[in-house]
Amino acid sequence: MNIHHLLSARFSQAIQAMGIQDAPIPLSRSTRPGFGEYQFNGAMALAKQLKQKPRDIAEDIVAKVELSDIASKLEVAGPGFINIHLKDEWLSQWCDKALMDEKLTIEAHDTETIVVDYSSPNLAKEMHVGHLRSTIIGDAVVNVLEYLGHNVIRQNHMGDWGTQFGMLLAHLNDQLSSSSVAETALSDLEDFYREAKVRFDNEDGFADRARDYVVKLQGGDAECLGLWQQFIDISIQHSEEVYKKLNVGLTREHVMGESSYNPDLPSVIADLTQKEILVESQGARLVFIPEMSNKEGEPAAYIVQKSGGGYLYATTDLAAIRYRANTLKAKRTLIFTDARQALHFKQTEIVARKAGYLSLDESYEHCPFGMMLGKDGKPFKTRSGAVIKLSDLLDEAIERAAVLISKRESSLNTQEKQQVAKTVGIGAVKYADLSKNRTTDYIFDWDTMLSFEGNTAPYLQYAYTRVKSVFRKAEQDMQTYQARVSVESAQEHDLVVKLMQFDEVLASVSKEATPHLMCTYLYEVASLFMRFYEANPILKPGISDEVKNSRLGLCALSAKTLKAGLEILGIDTLEVM
Ligand code: ARG
Repeated sequence: MNIHHLLSARFSQAIQAMGIQDAPIPLSRSTRPGFGEYQFNGAMALAKQLKQKPRDIAEDIVAKVELSDIASKLEVAGPGFINIHLKDEWLSQWCDKALMDEKLTIEAHDTETIVVDYSSPNLAKEMHVGHLRSTIIGDAVVNVLEYLGHNVIRQNHMGDWGTQFGMLLAHLNDQLSSSSVAETALSDLEDFYREAKVRFDNEDGFADRARDYVVKLQGGDAECLGLWQQFIDISIQHSEEVYKKLNVGLTREHVMGESSYNPDLPSVIADLTQKEILVESQGARLVFIPEMSNKEGEPAAYIVQKSGGGYLYATTDLAAIRYRANTLKAKRTLIFTDARQALHFKQTEIVARKAGYLSLDESYEHCPFGMMLGKDGKPFKTRSGAVIKLSDLLDEAIERAAVLISKRESSLNTQEKQQVAKTVGIGAVKYADLSKNRTTDYIFDWDTMLSFEGNTAPYLQYAYTRVKSVFRKAEQDMQTYQARVSVESAQEHDLVVKLMQFDEVLASVSKEATPHLMCTYLYEVASLFMRFYEANPILKPGISDEVKNSRLGLCALSAKTLKAGLEILGIDTLEVM
């Protein structure tokens, strides 16, 4: 149930009945208590168009709009706003339906094929904190889209090609010939990378060998490719361990690294040449983008082939666009990387559209995110200034959560406590990231994210266990619980309106790729639930069965919404904490 859609349809009917076609229907949520839940703001514009007083038009709409089943009251306020107060009976009926519906009454709608390009680490390095945001935010958006029934194709556009592999392969070759197996040599990728770099910078002849390897690799030399394949395989395994720890739905079948586009690159150049988009300049091939000129009026230059013949990140992205449109049939493409790549993607889109790789009804949406900062406001690093390995960060989260859990009173045994620590620790890290508006930088702070108060994963997980314990006391099964709900108190009213807005939130997150809206929403649900729970006793003596069942119904709906929302964000819930 999408209240917004429903109200829109009703207002649209009323306005058409007044003889006006295609008027916009501006509806918003009321923000002040006492002004109802939604507000129609279209009377002022209509009044201008019809040369009448806005309040008169508003009164006219109120008389014509058919909302008696939904609203208890419509009132004209201010210059001509219409405040809509939702009706308790209607809210109650919705609860009965929602309790029977696994998907909490979300509406069916058109579905499409959507490519989501996320995580996409560079394999010449160990996954570090910089990849946390892409991985977590991308995965949450994937989950939302899938929940809404879209055909989502995950693409892990791993950086598995390029000149840096020359030095890595030369180093690997030496390690393997001096008795080490690949797994051991590559057990710590960061160390391996550093060693190779030191040799590259200092060792006589090594840099030449490294360059030699690049040429051989690009030329398809079998031995070299074999070495490369070993390197890639182990490197992907490292990423997979992180995905598993993070509870993220990326597997090997989603890997579509840069190297997979190698065979397509010459044809991209040939095609751009044939379409006369490409120009040659000092041996390099590039596309001019007059749409993005500098102050002097010079167009931006988008290089697709270097003077030596080498291809670039950009060339691969053009090939990827073509593949995603033609083979995968994507209508939307979402790409999650940090904000520093914004210019690249803007230019890539312009070039791809010029070349006809994207049609007008196909979108290319770069979804940028800000940096993860330490408490000091500087890029998040270890004390010695090294990048933080993602895997170590997650282990630390679990350890810290374990310390917190051990301090709480609980009847759990050691093993159960360890499981709780895992769920809370990983949940906290993910939620801290997801709950911030993705476009801004954010401060990574252990204490805030692990707090049981405020907009945090532990707070939401705790609210969920609260409901679970009510059901245990009531000796009822929450999952299958059904009841006649009767919305009566103000807290019940506010809680149910919020619960009904789940569908609206999903729609916004799916449109804007902004999981923080879901976090804010779940936090509001949990807070309104707590308020309801404190003011409306459930299992106290003296409460009639009817009231008890109705309130249990609200508990079940709140918990189901929290669980569905958290699952979408990739965060597990717990039975007890
Ligand atoms: N490997 C890149 C990085 O680590 C991200 C790739 C994003 N996807 C793309 N199609 N360019 O920054």
